Amino acid sequence: MTPSALDPRGHGADVIAQLWWVLLALCTLVALITLAALVYAALRPRPNWQRPTAEQDRGPTRAIVYAGIVGPVIILAGLFVYVLSALGALSVPADSPYSIVVTGYQWWWDVRYRFPNQADGFRTANELRIPVGRRVRVDLESFDVIHSFWVPQLHGKIDLIPGRKNEIWLQANEPGVYRGQCAEFCGLQHTRMAFHVVALEPAEFDAWLMQQRRPAPEPRTAAEQHGRVTYESHGCAICHAIQGTTSRGIVAPDLTHVASRMYLAAGTIPTTRGHMAGWISDPQHVKPGVNMPRVPLDPDELNNLVTWLLTLR
Ligand code: CUA
Repeated sequence: MTPSALDPRGHGADVIAQLWWVLLALCTLVALITLAALVYAALRPRPNWQRPTAEQDRGPTRAIVYAGIVGPVIILAGLFVYVLSALGALSVPADSPYSIVVTGYQWWWDVRYRFPNQADGFRTANELRIPVGRRVRVDLESFDVIHSFWVPQLHGKIDLIPGRKNEIWLQANEPGVYRGQCAEFCGLQHTRMAFHVVALEPAEFDAWLMQQRRPAPEPRTAAEQHGRVTYESHGCAICHAIQGTTSRGIVAPDLTHVASRMYLAAGTIPTTRGHMAGWISDPQHVKPGVNMPRVPLDPDELNNLVTWLLTLR
Protein backbone atom coordinates (compact mmCIF):
# COMPACT_ATOMS: atom_id res chain seq x y z
CA MET A 1 0.00 0.00 0.00
CA THR A 2 1.21 3.47 -0.79
CA PRO A 3 1.81 5.48 2.39
CA SER A 4 -0.09 8.66 3.17
CA ALA A 5 0.89 12.16 2.08
CA LEU A 6 -0.15 13.18 5.60
CA ASP A 7 2.85 11.27 6.96
CA PRO A 8 5.55 13.49 5.39
CA ARG A 9 9.22 12.48 5.58
CA GLY A 10 10.80 15.15 3.41
CA HIS A 11 10.70 18.91 2.92
CA GLY A 12 8.43 18.87 -0.16
CA ALA A 13 5.84 16.66 1.53
CA ASP A 14 6.11 18.79 4.74
CA VAL A 15 5.10 21.91 2.83
CA ILE A 16 2.23 20.11 1.10
CA ALA A 17 0.94 18.49 4.31
CA GLN A 18 1.02 21.84 6.10
CA LEU A 19 -0.87 23.46 3.22
CA TRP A 20 -3.51 20.75 3.48
CA TRP A 21 -3.97 21.17 7.24
CA VAL A 22 -4.17 24.97 7.03
CA LEU A 23 -6.77 24.79 4.22
CA LEU A 24 -8.76 22.13 6.08
CA ALA A 25 -8.80 24.13 9.33
CA LEU A 26 -9.72 27.41 7.65
CA CYS A 27 -12.40 25.91 5.40
CA THR A 28 -13.91 24.02 8.35
CA LEU A 29 -14.02 27.24 10.38
CA VAL A 30 -15.69 29.19 7.55
CA ALA A 31 -18.19 26.37 6.96
CA LEU A 32 -19.09 26.23 10.67
CA ILE A 33 -19.57 30.00 10.91
CA THR A 34 -21.73 29.99 7.77
CA LEU A 35 -23.85 27.11 9.08
CA ALA A 36 -24.25 28.81 12.46
CA ALA A 37 -25.42 32.01 10.73
CA LEU A 38 -27.87 29.98 8.65
CA VAL A 39 -29.30 28.23 11.71
CA TYR A 40 -29.57 31.57 13.55
CA ALA A 41 -31.37 33.16 10.59
CA ALA A 42 -33.79 30.26 10.31
CA LEU A 43 -34.62 30.05 14.00
CA ARG A 44 -34.61 33.64 15.19
CA PRO A 45 -38.01 34.96 16.26
CA ARG A 46 -39.79 37.31 13.83
CA PRO A 47 -42.06 39.79 15.58
CA ASN A 48 -44.04 40.66 12.43
CA TRP A 49 -43.84 40.53 8.66
CA GLN A 50 -43.85 44.25 8.06
CA ARG A 51 -41.18 45.86 5.94
CA PRO A 52 -38.18 46.67 8.24
CA THR A 53 -37.32 50.29 8.86
CA ALA A 54 -34.02 51.78 7.64
CA GLU A 55 -32.74 51.50 11.21
CA GLN A 56 -33.62 47.77 11.37
CA ASP A 57 -32.11 47.19 7.95
CA ARG A 58 -28.68 48.42 8.93
CA GLY A 59 -27.68 45.22 10.79
CA PRO A 60 -28.25 42.81 7.88
CA THR A 61 -26.63 45.21 5.38
CA ARG A 62 -23.56 45.41 7.59
CA ALA A 63 -23.50 41.59 7.85
CA ILE A 64 -23.53 41.28 4.06
CA VAL A 65 -20.75 43.85 3.58
CA TYR A 66 -18.44 42.45 6.28
CA ALA A 67 -19.18 38.71 6.30
CA GLY A 68 -20.04 38.44 2.62
CA ILE A 69 -17.45 40.71 0.98
CA VAL A 70 -14.73 42.09 3.26
CA GLY A 71 -14.20 38.84 5.20
CA PRO A 72 -13.86 36.54 2.16
CA VAL A 73 -11.57 39.05 0.39
CA ILE A 74 -9.23 39.15 3.41
CA ILE A 75 -9.29 35.35 3.85
CA LEU A 76 -8.78 34.58 0.15
CA ALA A 77 -6.02 37.21 -0.25
CA GLY A 78 -4.24 35.78 2.81
CA LEU A 79 -4.55 32.24 1.43
CA PHE A 80 -3.30 33.39 -1.97
CA VAL A 81 -0.13 34.81 -0.42
CA TYR A 82 0.33 31.67 1.70
CA VAL A 83 -0.15 29.32 -1.29
CA LEU A 84 2.31 31.40 -3.35
CA SER A 85 4.91 31.12 -0.59
CA ALA A 86 4.31 27.34 -0.38
CA LEU A 87 4.75 27.03 -4.16
CA GLY A 88 7.96 29.05 -3.85
CA ALA A 89 9.25 26.65 -1.20
CA LEU A 90 8.49 23.72 -3.54
CA SER A 91 10.27 25.14 -6.58
CA VAL A 92 13.71 25.67 -5.03
CA PRO A 93 16.28 24.16 -7.40
CA ALA A 94 18.01 20.98 -6.37
CA ASP A 95 21.63 21.16 -5.24
CA SER A 96 22.73 17.76 -6.58
CA PRO A 97 25.62 17.71 -9.05
CA TYR A 98 23.91 14.98 -11.08
CA SER A 99 20.39 14.31 -12.23
CA ILE A 100 18.15 11.29 -12.32
CA VAL A 101 16.10 10.86 -15.48
CA VAL A 102 12.94 8.83 -14.95
CA THR A 103 11.05 7.65 -18.04
CA GLY A 104 7.58 6.16 -17.68
CA TYR A 105 6.73 3.06 -19.71
CA GLN A 106 3.60 0.91 -19.63
CA TRP A 107 4.03 -0.23 -16.81
CA TRP A 108 7.42 0.36 -15.26
CA TRP A 109 9.97 3.09 -14.63
CA ASP A 110 13.27 3.46 -16.41
CA VAL A 111 15.79 5.27 -14.18
CA ARG A 112 19.01 6.79 -15.50
CA TYR A 113 21.66 8.48 -13.37
CA ARG A 114 23.46 11.22 -15.29
CA PHE A 115 26.70 12.81 -14.14
CA PRO A 116 28.80 15.66 -15.55
CA ASN A 117 31.24 12.95 -16.61
CA GLN A 118 29.07 10.86 -18.93
CA ALA A 119 31.05 7.68 -18.28
CA ASP A 120 29.81 7.70 -14.66
CA GLY A 121 26.18 7.28 -15.70
CA PHE A 122 24.16 4.09 -15.44
CA ARG A 123 20.64 2.74 -15.81
CA THR A 124 18.37 0.93 -13.41
CA ALA A 125 14.61 0.43 -13.05
CA ASN A 126 11.73 0.92 -10.62
CA GLU A 127 14.06 2.01 -7.84
CA LEU A 128 15.75 5.35 -7.11
CA ARG A 129 18.38 5.74 -4.47
CA ILE A 130 19.18 9.15 -3.03
CA PRO A 131 21.49 10.47 -0.31
CA VAL A 132 19.54 11.42 2.81
CA GLY A 133 19.00 15.14 3.53
CA ARG A 134 19.91 16.39 0.03
CA ARG A 135 17.66 17.66 -2.69
CA VAL A 136 18.13 15.49 -5.75
CA ARG A 137 16.82 16.59 -9.10
CA VAL A 138 14.59 14.19 -11.05
CA ASP A 139 13.81 14.84 -14.74
CA LEU A 140 10.67 13.15 -16.00
CA GLU A 141 9.80 11.90 -19.46
CA SER A 142 7.38 9.39 -20.93
CA PHE A 143 7.90 6.76 -23.59
CA ASP A 144 4.23 6.15 -24.40
CA VAL A 145 1.25 7.60 -22.52
CA ILE A 146 0.84 10.04 -19.62
CA HIS A 147 1.99 8.68 -16.26
CA SER A 148 2.32 10.48 -12.95
CA PHE A 149 5.25 10.19 -10.55
CA TRP A 150 4.22 10.33 -6.90
CA VAL A 151 6.11 9.59 -3.69
CA PRO A 152 3.51 10.77 -1.16
CA GLN A 153 5.92 10.96 1.79
CA LEU A 154 8.50 13.02 -0.11
CA HIS A 155 6.78 15.35 -2.57
CA GLY A 156 3.69 16.05 -4.68
CA LYS A 157 2.60 14.46 -7.94
CA ILE A 158 4.04 15.39 -11.29
CA ASP A 159 3.01 14.08 -14.70
CA LEU A 160 5.27 12.39 -17.23
CA ILE A 161 4.04 13.60 -20.60
CA PRO A 162 5.17 12.26 -23.98
CA GLY A 163 7.29 14.85 -25.81
CA ARG A 164 7.69 17.07 -22.77
CA LYS A 165 10.24 17.31 -19.96
CA ASN A 166 9.11 17.93 -16.40
CA GLU A 167 11.24 18.10 -13.29
CA ILE A 168 10.88 17.71 -9.57
CA TRP A 169 13.28 17.22 -6.67
CA LEU A 170 13.26 14.64 -3.92
CA GLN A 171 14.63 14.98 -0.44
CA ALA A 172 14.21 12.63 2.53
CA ASN A 173 14.83 13.68 6.14
CA GLU A 174 15.75 10.19 7.29
CA PRO A 175 17.16 7.01 5.73
CA GLY A 176 14.39 4.66 4.69
CA VAL A 177 12.36 3.18 1.87
CA TYR A 178 9.59 5.35 0.44
CA ARG A 179 7.09 3.76 -1.86
CA GLY A 180 5.95 5.62 -4.94
CA GLN A 181 3.08 4.97 -7.31
CA CYS A 182 1.97 5.97 -10.79
CA ALA A 183 -0.88 8.39 -10.08
CA GLU A 184 -2.39 8.78 -13.55
CA PHE A 185 -4.43 5.99 -15.12
CA CYS A 186 -2.22 4.65 -17.89
CA GLY A 187 -3.72 1.31 -18.88
CA LEU A 188 -4.42 -2.17 -17.61
CA GLN A 189 -1.54 -2.42 -15.14
CA HIS A 190 -1.59 1.17 -13.86
CA THR A 191 -2.11 -0.20 -10.34
CA ARG A 192 1.04 -2.29 -10.55
CA MET A 193 3.24 0.57 -11.65
CA ALA A 194 4.94 1.23 -8.35
CA PHE A 195 8.53 2.14 -7.51
CA HIS A 196 10.66 2.75 -4.43
CA VAL A 197 12.87 5.60 -3.34
CA VAL A 198 15.61 4.44 -0.98
CA ALA A 199 17.28 7.20 1.06
CA LEU A 200 20.78 6.20 2.19
CA GLU A 201 23.51 7.74 4.34
CA PRO A 202 26.02 9.51 2.04
CA ALA A 203 28.72 6.83 2.42
CA GLU A 204 26.27 4.03 1.64
CA PHE A 205 24.93 6.01 -1.30
CA ASP A 206 28.43 6.46 -2.75
CA ALA A 207 29.07 2.74 -2.36
CA TRP A 208 25.82 2.03 -4.21
CA LEU A 209 26.86 4.37 -7.05
CA MET A 210 30.17 2.53 -7.39
CA GLN A 211 28.40 -0.83 -7.45
CA GLN A 212 25.83 0.26 -10.06
CA ARG A 213 28.58 1.54 -12.37
CA ARG A 214 30.23 -1.85 -12.56
CA PRO A 215 29.27 -4.15 -15.43
CA ALA A 216 27.48 -7.39 -14.63
CA PRO A 217 29.74 -10.03 -13.02
CA GLU A 218 30.91 -12.93 -15.19
CA PRO A 219 29.23 -16.32 -14.60
CA ARG A 220 31.37 -18.53 -12.36
CA THR A 221 29.68 -21.92 -12.38
CA ALA A 222 28.40 -24.14 -15.18
CA ALA A 223 24.80 -23.44 -14.11
CA GLU A 224 25.38 -19.66 -14.26
CA GLN A 225 27.06 -20.05 -17.63
CA HIS A 226 24.08 -22.01 -18.92
CA GLY A 227 21.74 -19.36 -17.51
CA ARG A 228 23.52 -16.66 -19.45
CA VAL A 229 23.42 -18.71 -22.66
CA THR A 230 19.69 -19.24 -22.11
CA TYR A 231 19.20 -15.49 -21.72
CA GLU A 232 21.13 -14.76 -24.90
CA SER A 233 19.55 -17.51 -27.00
CA HIS A 234 15.88 -16.89 -26.14
CA GLY A 235 15.54 -13.29 -27.28
CA CYS A 236 15.61 -11.67 -23.81
CA ALA A 237 18.38 -9.37 -25.04
CA ILE A 238 16.11 -7.82 -27.68
CA CYS A 239 14.24 -5.87 -24.99
CA HIS A 240 16.55 -5.94 -21.94
CA ALA A 241 20.09 -4.65 -21.49
CA ILE A 242 22.88 -6.06 -19.34
CA GLN A 243 26.10 -4.03 -19.21
CA GLY A 244 29.13 -6.21 -19.79
CA THR A 245 27.25 -8.41 -22.27
CA THR A 246 26.09 -7.79 -25.85
CA SER A 247 22.52 -7.30 -24.55
CA ARG A 248 21.47 -3.71 -25.36
CA GLY A 249 17.67 -3.56 -25.48
CA ILE A 250 16.00 -0.34 -24.33
CA VAL A 251 12.26 -1.08 -24.14
CA ALA A 252 12.44 -3.15 -20.97
CA PRO A 253 14.25 -2.72 -17.63
CA ASP A 254 18.05 -2.79 -17.59
CA LEU A 255 18.97 -5.98 -15.73
CA THR A 256 22.66 -5.29 -15.04
CA HIS A 257 22.08 -5.28 -11.27
CA VAL A 258 18.57 -6.69 -11.13
CA ALA A 259 19.30 -8.83 -8.08
CA SER A 260 20.25 -5.73 -6.06
CA ARG A 261 16.70 -4.35 -6.39
CA MET A 262 14.03 -5.05 -3.81
CA TYR A 263 11.21 -5.73 -6.26
CA LEU A 264 10.50 -7.05 -9.74
CA ALA A 265 7.82 -5.99 -12.24
CA ALA A 266 7.52 -2.41 -10.87
CA GLY A 267 6.92 -3.13 -7.20
CA THR A 268 4.69 -6.13 -7.92
CA ILE A 269 6.73 -9.02 -6.48
CA PRO A 270 9.81 -9.20 -4.23
CA THR A 271 13.12 -10.22 -5.81
CA THR A 272 13.24 -13.83 -4.64
CA ARG A 273 14.07 -17.00 -6.50
CA GLY A 274 10.50 -18.28 -6.52
CA HIS A 275 8.92 -15.01 -7.62
CA MET A 276 11.50 -14.47 -10.34
CA ALA A 277 10.96 -17.97 -11.73
CA GLY A 278 7.18 -17.49 -11.66
CA TRP A 279 7.49 -14.13 -13.37
CA ILE A 280 9.71 -15.41 -16.19
CA SER A 281 7.68 -18.56 -16.78
CA ASP A 282 4.33 -16.74 -16.97
CA PRO A 283 4.43 -12.92 -16.89
CA GLN A 284 0.78 -12.62 -17.96
CA HIS A 285 -0.31 -14.51 -14.88
CA VAL A 286 1.54 -12.14 -12.54
CA LYS A 287 0.68 -8.95 -14.44
CA PRO A 288 -2.02 -9.43 -17.10
CA GLY A 289 -1.48 -7.22 -20.14
CA VAL A 290 2.24 -6.73 -19.49
CA ASN A 291 4.45 -6.42 -22.59
CA MET A 292 6.87 -9.12 -21.44
CA PRO A 293 6.17 -12.20 -23.56
CA ARG A 294 6.08 -15.75 -22.26
CA VAL A 295 9.25 -17.52 -23.33
CA PRO A 296 9.05 -21.32 -23.43
CA LEU A 297 11.91 -22.72 -21.31
CA ASP A 298 12.54 -26.22 -20.09
CA PRO A 299 12.96 -26.61 -16.29
CA ASP A 300 16.78 -26.67 -16.45
CA GLU A 301 16.89 -23.54 -18.56
CA LEU A 302 14.52 -21.69 -16.24
CA ASN A 303 16.38 -22.83 -13.14
CA ASN A 304 19.79 -21.83 -14.46
CA LEU A 305 18.52 -18.56 -15.92
CA VAL A 306 17.19 -17.55 -12.48
CA THR A 307 20.41 -18.72 -10.82
CA TRP A 308 22.43 -16.50 -13.14
CA LEU A 309 20.09 -13.47 -12.89
CA LEU A 310 20.32 -13.65 -9.08
CA THR A 311 24.10 -13.23 -9.31
CA LEU A 312 23.58 -9.83 -10.97
CA ARG A 313 23.95 -7.80 -7.84
CU1 CUA B 1 1.63 4.70 -15.33
CU2 CUA B 1 -0.50 4.82 -14.27
